[in-house]
Amino acid sequence: MKPFVFENPTKLIFGRDQIKQLTNEAKKLGDRVLMLYGGGSIKRNGVYEDVMKALRDAGTEVIELSGVDPNPRISTVRKGAQLCRDNNLQWVLAVGGGSVIDCAKAIAAAAVFDGDFWDVVSHKRSPQGALPLGTVLTLAATGSEMNGGSVITNEETQEKLGWGSIHTYPRFSILDPAYTASVPKDQTVYGIVDMMSHVFEQYFHHDAMTPVQDGFCESVLRAIIRTAPELVQDLENVELRETILYCGTMALNGVLSMGVTGDWANHDMEHAVSAVYDIPHGGGLAILFPHWMDLAVERHPERFAQMAVNVFGVEPDGKSTLEVGREGIEELREFWRSIGAPTRLGDYGIDDSKLVTMAGKATIFGTIGRYVQLTLEDIAGIYRKAL
Ligand code: NZQ
Ligand code: ZN
Repeated sequence: MKPFVFENPTKLIFGRDQIKQLTNEAKKLGDRVLMLYGGGSIKRNGVYEDVMKALRDAGTEVIELSGVDPNPRISTVRKGAQLCRDNNLQWVLAVGGGSVIDCAKAIAAAAVFDGDFWDVVSHKRSPQGALPLGTVLTLAATGSEMNGGSVITNEETQEKLGWGSIHTYPRFSILDPAYTASVPKDQTVYGIVDMMSHVFEQYFHHDAMTPVQDGFCESVLRAIIRTAPELVQDLENVELRETILYCGTMALNGVLSMGVTGDWANHDMEHAVSAVYDIPHGGGLAILFPHWMDLAVERHPERFAQMAVNVFGVEPDGKSTLEVGREGIEELREFWRSIGAPTRLGDYGIDDSKLVTMAGKATIFGTIGRYVQLTLEDIAGIYRKAL
């Protein structure tokens, strides 16, 4: 293990009907809020009314900003920050999935930032603080509800970049599994792929003596693999939703990566694809990850073999480490295919015309991949295989 500091200030409020706790949390953060949401799902499933009632009970004055796009944009961040400043708002409430939460984090920090906030997203400057932020999560996927990270797209330059800060951990996040029951099948599958990918990004590392972290990762993966096939056939099953919701949060709240350095190349590669083609993040990961695994297992098969045995139950007797590792990758491919995840970039109409451009965008901050370092050619090769 490497030395580490674990700090996670988010108060997690989990379970059915817990929206009632919003009233009390809202009172703590101030009486004027910017409430941010997406394209309208919260108006169709009743979440909007529940949130507004809890805020009314708290006596909170609400300014709304709706229409946050999936793959949220810097232009929306600028607009939201301006609204906060013009109306002297004291805190920000995100009601939605990862896109709404990521956008809310950027707005909260941009509202108190002196300059153009894209400089923070593109790592040229550090945030100077943030308004307090709360979330009501409606989609199990990113883990953004319990971390300080945010991913923002600059539509003009076709860049999609992650940034983060201790200031942008939500003060509280309310997770009611019933609120996720209306998520359609495709977004449910993207979320499942995303959370599994977060575990993989942290599981593939070279740090020694990490049996507890390994066990946590494998346990989250096994729970998802047991639950997801039933859930995609029974989307309104709140008990199954609850397991998946908890897995999504645990997959990226820092617990799995204590003392280890994860790989994260697939996220850099996928963000580059979404930056150019605006595809769903989980869909991109489902396509790219198995091809990265094919390359990585040849260089470092050990942890692939461990995953194959401990997660997918591959029988290792009489086989080489490499053979066992490869079998695990095939199990993953089959699992993702069986729940309906996309398998080819062509599924999104992507051809070979921008492979090198995307590889360049994936490496904008330098070489990527810490379990397996990838060259520009490696990345373009992964994209090409994924066509
Ligand atoms: O906009 P609305 O109408 O709300 O519809 C959304 C959206 O169309 C819909 N949806 C959400 N909750 C729903 C629902 N539909 C019905 N019922 C509900 N209860 O789902 C669609 C997708 O929502 P979005 O927020 O974009 O999905 P997700 O949570 O997967 O977030 C994806 C974004 O998060 C970033 C991704 O790159 C992408 O931009 N990520 C953020 C991370 C973080 N902050 O830690 C880590 C991740 O790796 C990821 O990169
Ligand atoms: Zn992700």
